[in-house]
Parts: sequence; structure tokens; C-alpha cells
Amino acid sequence: MPTSQFPYSSYFITFQYTHNMSDTDTPATYETIQGGGSLVVAYQIAGKKVLIVGGGNVAGQRIVSLKIADAQVIVVSPEAGLHPEVKFRIENKEVEWRDRYFIDQDVDGVDMVLTALDDHEESLRIGHLCRDKRIPVNVADVPPMCDFYFMSQHRDGPLQIAVSTNGKGPKLANMVRVAAANALPDHMGDTIEKMGKLRAKVREWEPEMKNSGKRMTWVTKVCDKWGLKGMARLNDLKTQEQEDAAFNKLKEYFIMGGVPEIDAILPSDKKPRITLIGGGPGDPELITVKAKRLLEEADLVISDRLIPSQILDLVQGELRIARKFTGKSDEAQEELMQWCLDGLKKGLHVVRLKIGDPLLFGRGGEEIIWFRERGFEPELIAGISSAFSAPMAAMIPVTFRGVSDQVIITTGRGTKGSMPDLPVYGSTQTLVVLMAVGRASELRSMLFDRQYPQDVPICWIENANCPEERIIYGSVDSMANLVEEKEIKAPAVLVVGHSISVLNNIQA
Ligand SMILES: C[S@@+](CC[C@H](N)C(=O)[O-])C[C@H]1O[C@@H](n2cnc3c(N)ncnc32)[C@H](O)[C@@H]1O
Repeated sequence: MPTSQFPYSSYFITFQYTHNMSDTDTPATYETIQGGGSLVVAYQIAGKKVLIVGGGNVAGQRIVSLKIADAQVIVVSPEAGLHPEVKFRIENKEVEWRDRYFIDQDVDGVDMVLTALDDHEESLRIGHLCRDKRIPVNVADVPPMCDFYFMSQHRDGPLQIAVSTNGKGPKLANMVRVAAANALPDHMGDTIEKMGKLRAKVREWEPEMKNSGKRMTWVTKVCDKWGLKGMARLNDLKTQEQEDAAFNKLKEYFIMGGVPEIDAILPSDKKPRITLIGGGPGDPELITVKAKRLLEEADLVISDRLIPSQILDLVQGELRIARKFTGKSDEAQEELMQWCLDGLKKGLHVVRLKIGDPLLFGRGGEEIIWFRERGFEPELIAGISSAFSAPMAAMIPVTFRGVSDQVIITTGRGTKGSMPDLPVYGSTQTLVVLMAVGRASELRSMLFDRQYPQDVPICWIENANCPEERIIYGSVDSMANLVEEKEIKAPAVLVVGHSISVLNNIQA
């Protein structure tokens, strides 16, 4: 059970519906009023007298809600009807207790009445008595007799989240409240304390009343720029010294009217770090949980081109995407490695986001050596390679007993544009060729050289696992013509072998 020691005390009750207006609104944009709600308010009940009639379990819960809000609580109930928690509150002198049944004079001089009785008739009678005397009343389990309902509440220091279903679904309100609280970064109450301190500082920096607009605008900009996750990082300011240093830096930005990145004001004992992440084949749901987390956390993400925007949207730090240098991939590679190094030199966590798996045909190994030579050991996060996901997208089991017992993954374009050395035909092999589109004709000739029969099935899978995915079947003989006829474009994977026909009814 929570205690009632919180210094922040509002008592959530619902009365009606809220609406924001701005000066730029016109009648056409004004919200259409939907009646039937409650007024949602944080009622200041501190020091006011609240009478609870009954001493059972419900009374125990109400006492907690009321004492959190610093109300003065009086419980009327004979001792026999007291729940152990209510007894505990009485013994602890947290509430006043009248050891008897309710009498009408009990409501004299009180500001609010709550009934928590099993006796329905008596509850209704007390409800009507309060209505006559214009004392707000809540009659447990009788919604029409309630002037207000209790809201499902989440408390974390100064943060209070209250959910109302207008008396229609207390359990549902509870579930919505839990979901809302779970969506927040951890220790949001502490974050609010820090932001509260920042607001107070801003008033110190700019005390003039006439400049309240400037203060408010700047604090709003801070909230917008940092977002909830950024603001939550203020909790990293553990000592008074760290807090003072951060606020001093912020003061400089405030004076200039700017807002820094949150990292620029936090203590920077962070070590530079480089992570090579496999971005999978294109579907944002096909990246690993760890990749998703690191993309969200990284200060700087340097991405390959062609990574879909839904994956890039996960990035919360700075994002830079490799530029296209037509026919000059070395220059592009050099530039993006330099971006990574610049970030590392600033002490950032840099993520190098690569298509598919970072160590399969994507210079991942070379990048590791490059970073090592400069004193950084990359961390590696595997990704789903198109070498496997593309055949799967085309329903090709790359191994299948009696049909294919080997998978050979190869590139269609070797270093400096050289041709790969393809293996001699083996009827139980599946060949998976990446980067083959521009080389279809040469690859076809080489396959014939390697004794591939011309009717062996092939499959082109273009943009596998992306919305624009295309799957085109053919034979070794037709594989190059298909590229022209169907205008197949990179990125595409070529699969060659009899495993293609196992689950697909195709005419080679
Ligand atoms: C530089 S390689 C990178 C491979 C990557 N590391 C992997 O594991 O998938 C680029 C080639 O991967 C293949 N590729 C990557 N994503 C693909 C996709 N969504 N659909 C088809 N092929 C893809 C294409 O053959 C493309 O030319």
C-alpha cells in the first residue's frame, strides 16, 4: 500500500470535458462539443474535512487517495466493521475515528462525503441528505448518486496521471492508466523535478514579469527539442555540482535564445563507441530488438543508402545517410567512414547502419579493420541477410532433403568489378547471388561454362521484404533476358537451383 507522505497533493476527481483554444482558431476549427463527459480537475482538498461513512476495504483505499492530497479525514464506523488497514490508519492517527454508526449530524461542517457501506438504503439516504445540504458526495457503487468519481491514478513524485471512464469502467481505466504509465521513460517524477528546477532557474535568469513570454517560449522549445526521452536524461545529473554546471551552460543558450542538444549539457564521461548494426532486408519489423534499441540511443547514426525511412525514423540522435557518388563507391565509403571518425573523436556513440547483415558483402570486415587501426573496436549486431530473407520471400527453402543439401552464397560483382568464380554445377546445390543485376548476362555465360543445364530454375527477388517486392521466376537460359524484359533493378537477389521448384509451381 502506498503511504501518504508525498509532498505533491492534488486529488483527482472528474466533473467535465476540457478544450484548448488558440488565437488563430476560427469558428470552423473550434472543437465540436461532445457532452456527457466529466469536468476533469485536480481538486485542492488539503486541510479540508472529508467524511467517510464505513470502515471496510473501500474506505481503506479512499483514505489513501485522500491523505495523499492532505485532506483531513473522519471515518464513521463501529469497530467491528473496520478493515485492518483502516484500523492501522486510525492507530497511526492519520484519520479521526467515530466508533459508531452514522448519524445525520456527522455531515455538519464537512466539505465532502464518501459512503462506503454495504447497506444500499442507508447509502442512498446519506446521498440525498448531502445533496439537500449541497455537500459533494460519492456513494460507492451507485453512480447516479455520485457528484464525482474517483479516477485511476498513477503517482510518481509530482507526476499524477489520472484516467477516467466517467464511472463506466473502473477496471478499464486501471488498464489504460497502467499502459500510459508504462509508455513513459523511467523515473519521470525525478525528470519533472529537474524540469521544475530549470523553470525556476529561468525565472532567476529573466525575472522581469514583462518577459514571461520569452521564458515560456524557451522552456517550450526545450521540451520540444529534447522530447520526453531527452528530458529524462536530466536524471543523469546526480550531484549538485553536475546540476549547477548543466544549468550554467543552459543559461548561456537561454540568453542567446537557443536550445542545445541534451548531450551538450550533460557530464561527458561517456566513452566513444562504434557499433556496426545490420539493418536487415528492408522490413522495419525484421531488425533485431537490440538494433532497435541502439538506433534509438545512439548519438550519431551513419546509414547506408537504401535503408527504408521506417527504420531511419527510429533514430533519435543525428542521422547522416551515405551520399551517392555515381561509379565512385570508394569515395562514398571514405566520406562516411570519416563522418564516423569525427563522431568518435567527439566522444559520441556512433552507429554504422548497414543493409542486411553487416559482415556479408558490405565491406563490414574492412570497416572493422579501419576502425581498429584508429583505436576503436566495433561492437557488432547481426542483421537478417537478404541472402536468406530474399529466397524465403519467394518461398524457396534453400535446403531441402533430397533436393538441396548445400547453399552457396556469392557476389555477382567481385572486388574492383571482377567476376566471381562460380562453382561447377551440382544438382543438389542452391546458388544465391547478390549484386547480380548488372552482371546477368556474364553470369549466365559463366553458369553454362560451369555445366549448368539451361533449364535449371532461377528466381530474381527484387526489393525483398519491402512493399515494392517483385518475384520473377525463369531458367538459367532466360535469366539475363528477364532482367531486360522485366526491368529488374538492384537491390535484387538471384537464386539458382532446383530448391526453387519445391514449394512453387513454376514453369522454367
Ligand atoms: C552490398 S550488398 C549488401 C548485402 C547485405 N549485407 C545483406 O546481408 O543482405 C547489396 C546487395 O544485397 C542484396 N540486397 C540487399 N537488400 C536486398 C533486398 N531488400 N532485396 C533484394 N536484394 C537485396 C542485393 O543483391 C544488393 O545488391
